[in-house]
Amino acid sequence: MRSSSRIALPAALISVLACAPSDEAPRTADHHAGAPGIGDSDFPKAGNGGYDVSHYWLVLDYVPATKRLTGETTIDATATQGLSSFNLDLSGFEVSRVSVNGTPAKFERAGDELTVRPGTPLGPGSRFSVKVTYAGVPKPAKDTANLGTYGFIPTSDGAFVACEPDGAKTWFPGNDHPADKATFDFSITVPAGLTALANGEMVGKPATSNGKTTYRWREGHPMVTYLATATLGQFTLREGATAGGIKNLAAVDPKFRSSLDTVYNLSAEITDYWTTVFGPYPFSSTGGIVDNHSAGYALENQTKPLYGGFAPEEGIISHELAHQWFGNSLSLRRWRDLWLNEGFATYAEWLWSEHKGKSTAEAMFNTYKARPEDHAMWKYPPGRARPRDLFNESVYTRGAMTLHALRKAIGDATFFHLIKTWTRDHRYGHVTTEEFVDLAERLSGKQLDSLFDAWLFQAKRPA
Ligand code: ARG
Ligand code: ZN
Repeated sequence: MRSSSRIALPAALISVLACAPSDEAPRTADHHAGAPGIGDSDFPKAGNGGYDVSHYWLVLDYVPATKRLTGETTIDATATQGLSSFNLDLSGFEVSRVSVNGTPAKFERAGDELTVRPGTPLGPGSRFSVKVTYAGVPKPAKDTANLGTYGFIPTSDGAFVACEPDGAKTWFPGNDHPADKATFDFSITVPAGLTALANGEMVGKPATSNGKTTYRWREGHPMVTYLATATLGQFTLREGATAGGIKNLAAVDPKFRSSLDTVYNLSAEITDYWTTVFGPYPFSSTGGIVDNHSAGYALENQTKPLYGGFAPEEGIISHELAHQWFGNSLSLRRWRDLWLNEGFATYAEWLWSEHKGKSTAEAMFNTYKARPEDHAMWKYPPGRARPRDLFNESVYTRGAMTLHALRKAIGDATFFHLIKTWTRDHRYGHVTTEEFVDLAERLSGKQLDSLFDAWLFQAKRPA
């Protein structure tokens, strides 16, 4: 679902358009091929145009010994234009069958685009369901700048699944861009003895037969594709609730067994604290997963941040849990605004430190501000994250400094009121930098263009 408003068509018009000839590519001007990208010029092929997904139903079977993933993904969507064909993002795999509304459809592959041509064109505003059956050995994505490997990554005992920015397509077909959020159902079958962890809450009890166990999970709040996970392997779990009453689940690989209670306790304490600073927790549970894959990073997977090959300390836990508000509940319309995720989550680390009576946000700000004029951070304006260097340190650190500069300019009371208003007004929706600047100006009554311009958009150190 996209939070931008759509044009409502009169029902009569929709039914006329839906009556196009059924067995051929449409000749009317009303049906077109959906665009191969969602319209983010920095990621021209990411996501797709012409429809809006409301729900993904992923049925997966993974065999660690052969690394083979067998999948059947059903996507419920609404056409936002007349569609003679539409694309899904999918990287690798053999696709054996695609059906639209239960009828087999023609399909083609080109790179990471799967083009689906339904027998009957889809009228604008019509709801449809597309089912894709596929299998193969997943190939994770690689980025040379600073992302490392991401996507569905096989491990010695299962898989580590962390997909930011565009790695969801390495394990399921979909509209792989944060501008289209949807709810998710997962059914994941693994060899008995392994645990499969996905977003949201477990549905029913794991069911074992013929040496295989199926785990079902449901994320009932809108979620961007890169936050979906199906991390699986050997895990020890601790379940319960935070003092504030939020469900909490920690899961650790046997190698990190000694970190189970720390991850559980810190995740609980930090989630509760963030609700006092950022507003109500947006999802049904919190927690964290520590896997034995040395990714070199963590990812804020919705409800279950994933730590790749290290026992996390409170700083990074405070960062990943802050993302549940910034990035997960409030999501990007376009990747260039990534500081709205990473600058906020980094600033959250400073706030956590301040809360714990350690270094203050002011001290952190001053330390970074003292960096020499020629430091790389000053040459990279964080307000426009670059597609080939998306996770540059500037997006994190100078993004956080932007928020501190703002806090100093408008005062603590207005600043923290702004943060809570921001998370409330856009809960489960999408945001842009312009919307944040507008809200900051409205709530403070100050003209803040020059502050934001200096901190976010100039390739030099602010005065
Ligand atoms: N959002 C993650 C974090 O804040 C970083 C993810 C980096 N992505 C990647 N593919 N390595 O910490
Ligand atoms: Zn982050």
